Amino acid sequence: MSEATSDRAGGEVDLRTDRPHSARMYDYLLGGKDHYVVDAEAAEKALGAFPMLRVAARENRKFLGRAVRYLAQEAGIRQFLDLGSGLPTAENVHQVAQRVDPGARVVYVDNDPIVLVYGSALLGKNDQTVVIQGDMRDPEAILDHPRTRSLIDFDEPVALLAVAILHFVGDDEDPLGILRRLRQALPAGSHVILSHATADIAPEAAMGVQDAYRAQGVPLTLRGREEFTRFFEGTELVEPGVQVVSDWRSTVPVEARPDHADVSWYGGVGRIPS
Ligand SMILES: C[S@@+](CC[C@H](N)C(=O)[O-])C[C@H]1O[C@@H](n2cnc3c(N)ncnc32)[C@H](O)[C@@H]1O
Repeated sequence: MSEATSDRAGGEVDLRTDRPHSARMYDYLLGGKDHYVVDAEAAEKALGAFPMLRVAARENRKFLGRAVRYLAQEAGIRQFLDLGSGLPTAENVHQVAQRVDPGARVVYVDNDPIVLVYGSALLGKNDQTVVIQGDMRDPEAILDHPRTRSLIDFDEPVALLAVAILHFVGDDEDPLGILRRLRQALPAGSHVILSHATADIAPEAAMGVQDAYRAQGVPLTLRGREEFTRFFEGTELVEPGVQVVSDWRSTVPVEARPDHADVSWYGGVGRIPS
């Protein structure tokens, strides 16, 4: 049985609780409570293949926080367009960015209706932050969305986030072309924050995760370092370039960081030059 709820405008939204969704599986992996039995079961199957998947998800989340803080603090970015934002959890983009500058503006975008329902409830009182339903594979609809236009000034630098979402975009859906179309809307000085799961480091276990997701009807495409680095086309990589997420500008001593094999996730930040 699926569950229906109301969106902000009072319309009925089918949350499709009869099948797993990547947003809710990720919530389960991060120890959240906004998921259903079907999502927990699917995530457990992926954990069977890759027992450290929780560590990997947490490291990705920490990378996201460090990258947003870096852009707010060091690069002076005040506008964030977060594609595939996921369910609200700890250290959401607006919390990190608005700690640096309470005036920072954030547009969260996700194609899973549950994110709109829960996200809007969480953000109800924050004028600087909105959640919209949108699909990364239709970038123009996101860029032209009235709520995007009301918060983001495309004449000023923007941070575009596609963190842990590109591996849900298949090769046949042209992820490189999608990123190109998004980048064209951004002025010089804008940045992109990207992360992506990989089978480069622990091929057998990581491919087990890909198989487990696909078997549950959640399309997942792991990619290698070279292919991931190509997603930064048109940008200059910010130091230290593409790294396993747990290493990117981490302040944790190297010996205390998880093994790369347990993380199996690349991340990086690129700057659009003048
Ligand atoms: C693994 S979560 C990542 C959440 C957050 N970005 C992070 O890294 O912590 C992936 C999110 O991408 C969303 N998603 C997947 N495909 C999408 C698409 N084509 N357009 C928009 N959102 C998408 C899912 O619903 C999910 O919330």
